[in-house]
Amino acid sequence: MAEHSYDYDVLVIGAGPGGYVAAIRAAQLGLKTACAEGRATLGGTCLNVGCIPSKAMLHASEYFDAASNGTMADMGVDVTPKLNLDKMHAQRIDAVDGLTKGIEFLFKKNKVDWKKGYASFQDAHTVKVGDETVTAKDIVIATGSSVTPLPGVEVDNAKGVVVDSTGALELAKVPKKMVVIGGGVIGLELGSVWRRLGAEVTCIEFLDEILPGMDGDIRKESRKIFKKQGIEFKLSTKVTGVVVKGKKATLTFEPAAGGDAETMEADCVLVSIGRKPNTDGLGLDAIGLEINQRGQVETDHDFRTKVADENGGVWAIGDVVRGPMLAHKAEDEGIAVAENIAGETGIVNHDVIPNVVYTWPEIAGVGLTTEQAIEKMGGDKSKIKVGKFPMMANSRAKTNHEPEGFVKVIAEAESDRVLGVWAIASVAGTMIAEACVAMEFGATSEDIAYTCHAHPTHAEAMKEAAMGVQGKPIHI
Ligand code: FAD
Ligand code: NAI
Repeated sequence: MAEHSYDYDVLVIGAGPGGYVAAIRAAQLGLKTACAEGRATLGGTCLNVGCIPSKAMLHASEYFDAASNGTMADMGVDVTPKLNLDKMHAQRIDAVDGLTKGIEFLFKKNKVDWKKGYASFQDAHTVKVGDETVTAKDIVIATGSSVTPLPGVEVDNAKGVVVDSTGALELAKVPKKMVVIGGGVIGLELGSVWRRLGAEVTCIEFLDEILPGMDGDIRKESRKIFKKQGIEFKLSTKVTGVVVKGKKATLTFEPAAGGDAETMEADCVLVSIGRKPNTDGLGLDAIGLEINQRGQVETDHDFRTKVADENGGVWAIGDVVRGPMLAHKAEDEGIAVAENIAGETGIVNHDVIPNVVYTWPEIAGVGLTTEQAIEKMGGDKSKIKVGKFPMMANSRAKTNHEPEGFVKVIAEAESDRVLGVWAIASVAGTMIAEACVAMEFGATSEDIAYTCHAHPTHAEAMKEAAMGVQGKPIHI
């Protein structure tokens, strides 16, 4: 075998949740590691313009909403809230600053070198980062994703009239009328923020229901809840163009199936129709790596691309490869790829990746939807059993004035093995972790039903939904 000497054992391209975690894990495993990042701060989309700042705005606006919509008054706390949007933004920026600097600290602690700049492949072991040439035995592509543009709609975040998620996090004032294009996760989370702060919000969705990919019951019920909160929906509708004049936008839209066009005015339009993998400028041609039809880098089960030789190779993880575009999925792949590079066995169970929408209440799920479970059983509904428990009948949710939602446990009828769990509840995102552990251990619904859950907690609804699979919940 030819002897080669490289600057690093591992070079990771991109310092998002996939890349920074891969770099830290590789260093922990004793590999000399560098990470290239073009952004001015570490943490990728998630920490800079995604998960973290959106949750900062969601959390703060929840307080404002609870104070202004009567929730606090119902509990004997009479307040008249006054919005200080600058301060709300300041605490968002503070959260991002603290966490991105935290990654810088972790890099130093673990001796990961940060190569500042955008990386481009020269060959399978050589990358140019700015003016520097860096060589490595193994290289991990973790370049993430960016906003999918909508033809005919030009985003200008600085102007703040037609924005993407980054612009929608930073609006300098509450729009009077906001139109959200796309009833997916970003549209509902950021639409909720501005609705709570006083905007009239309309969501235009191409499909006949919001939140594609989630369980059918969950999609329907969550839309009802959002409607009650004041978000208007136009389903089965497509936006064909947006014209901006001064500070106003005029949207043109028509039925998805075709038909007469209509127009609507807005002070702010949020384009949130999905995200696409980042591969432009990466120099994939130089290593003979093509992207697939969805723009993703293809890998095998171990995150290895087809570019490999006896000295090492090129790997890829996170939003730039197949699977849900989620931070925790990218992180787990980051750990697994580092372990695989180090010669260990890194595994991610892609069947058990939770999905959470951080609205009020939260929406969460893991595993198969009811529709997917039935399909898996060859269309035979009798081969699955479903237990459902309303949050209204959960003592803690009721006491906390959080009666909306339900938990749904889907199990295979014959084996009772849990196939999927879905929930709408104030703390559904936290509750779903129990379902993930259960499914990871191959639990049956009976296992969950006979596990002692603390009282009074929202988590008891999970136990009762599992009891419902066998038809015997206590509190309904
Ligand atoms: P990214 O986080 O996108 O990081 C990739 C990094 O690579 C970027 O910093 C980029 O600058 C850098 N890069 C790209 N090309 C190069 C190059 N050639 N050279 C050097 N550096 C390069 N997910 C959740 O799980 N929970 C949430 O609550 C959540 N909220 C979100 C809210 C919003 C508004 C958005 C937009 C996304 C949200 N996501 C959430 C999705 C989540 O942010 C992504 O799934 C996650 O960041 C993907 O991680 P990644 O490491 O693959 O890529
Ligand atoms: P999305 O894929 O979740 O939703 C996009 C929606 O837009 C879909 O419902 C789709 O049918 C609709 N759509 C597509 N084209 C349209 C058109 N022309 N007109 C009207 N509707 C159209 O994408 P989104 O919301 O942009 O988020 C991108 C990704 O970011 C998500 O898939 C998710 O992976 C990640 N994310 C995760 C979060 C979380 O975990 N809480 C929060 C925010 C983002």
